[in-house]
Amino acid sequence: MRSSTFLLFSIVGIYGAVLNAAAWSVNNFLMTGPKAYLTYSSSVAAGAQSGMEECKFQFGWERWNCPESALQLSTHNRLRSATRETSFVHAISSAGVMYTLTRNCSMGDFESCSCDDSRNGRVGGRGWVWGGCSDNVEFGERISKLFVDALETGHDTRALINLHNNEVGRLAVKSTMKRACKCHGVSGSCSIQTCWLQLADFREIGNYLKMKYDQAHKLEMDKRRMRAGNSADSRGATAEAFHHVHSTELVFLEDSPDYCTRNASLGHHGTEGRECLQAGKNLSQWERRSCRRLCTECGLKVEERRTEVVSSCNCKFHWCCTVRCEQCRQLVAKHFCARRDATVANHTKRRNKGHRR
Ligand SMILES: *[C@@H]1O[C@H](CO)[C@@H](O)[C@H](O)[C@H]1NC(C)=O
Ligand SMILES: *[C@@H]1O[C@H](CO)[C@@H](O)[C@H](O)[C@H]1NC(C)=O
Ligand SMILES: *[C@@H]1O[C@H](CO)[C@@H](O)[C@H](O)[C@H]1NC(C)=O
Ligand SMILES: *[C@@H]1O[C@H](CO)[C@@H](O)[C@H](O)[C@H]1NC(C)=O
Repeated sequence: MRSSTFLLFSIVGIYGAVLNAAAWSVNNFLMTGPKAYLTYSSSVAAGAQSGMEECKFQFGWERWNCPESALQLSTHNRLRSATRETSFVHAISSAGVMYTLTRNCSMGDFESCSCDDSRNGRVGGRGWVWGGCSDNVEFGERISKLFVDALETGHDTRALINLHNNEVGRLAVKSTMKRACKCHGVSGSCSIQTCWLQLADFREIGNYLKMKYDQAHKLEMDKRRMRAGNSADSRGATAEAFHHVHSTELVFLEDSPDYCTRNASLGHHGTEGRECLQAGKNLSQWERRSCRRLCTECGLKVEERRTEVVSSCNCKFHWCCTVRCEQCRQLVAKHFCARRDATVANHTKRRNKGHRR
């Protein structure tokens, strides 16, 4: 299992799946891959993908909006950085992989695992006993660790940070689990309940990790010891820095770059051309401020573009049995960040660089 082929395949698998889902196929490895790899690889890929989709949702109205280039799960990538944003990418990806494997297991997709019924029959609390099918997170944790953590082949500080953030993601899956119960007793009196633990919605895990992202901890390294070049010394400095980090806390090493501006070498598109939301009725405060955050504070202007949207309306039911509708045309205003005139741009002050609002 721990052969180098296994490792290589997991890298290709996760990268391929997320960057180009269609092009990647398990069949490519049917002749060579170890059996265990083949059993789980499609689930691992699906899990990494769902992690990235959740990342895009959580960062939809942020300057950094989780571009594909953010997926640098492997230390093989020389461009890898260890910013607040990459800490989130690691956590949500590893959470996605664990989540999907666990779900698969409960659905009976794998012969090698089934529900966690280890506590069934025991009293769990007042008026309830363990019973039913608890999601087998231990299984999901074990297999996801094997795939995702195996991508970290280095032994430097960055590798340690990535491994730590992977673990934060897996802990998030566990700590958001919920108890679900079923009533028993005479005619539904519910005098006794059986309960089991189940995974939360993945959205909830995304929300939880987004909060952890906001509170992420910058690792302050002893630069003198790091620079000494002595690997034992720098390992010592790393261990010391980690000493103060809680296991549920995301960790990063470098300050975020200015995500307002395009930076091709970092793979950032900048916020020019991005859509933002203005003055909708039901927007959260976070969404309502998106034009300011993405455009104005990045030295761009907000440009309104009207587009015509055609939809069905005034539908009437005719006896019997058709529904006839009219086609209504509606002008919808959308807002985008656009470059200002050069003269105006001179007076623009860049405020709030980096990721903060
Ligand atoms: C596990 O679940 C994912 C997502 O629901 C699915 O794409 C994948 O095919 C499943 N794996 C197996 C082995 O059934
Ligand atoms: C892109 O980012 C790198 C690293 O932060 C920086 O050195 C470089 O100046 C940036 N390039 C542009 C065009 O901003
Ligand atoms: C507006 O938001 C509230 C609370 O979030 C929700 O109950 C309501 O359905 C929303 N209304 C519309 C029109 O989306
Ligand atoms: C405004 O910008 C232009 C071009 O970028 C520059 O030549 C000019 O000196 C600037 N003016 C001021 C007042 O900064």
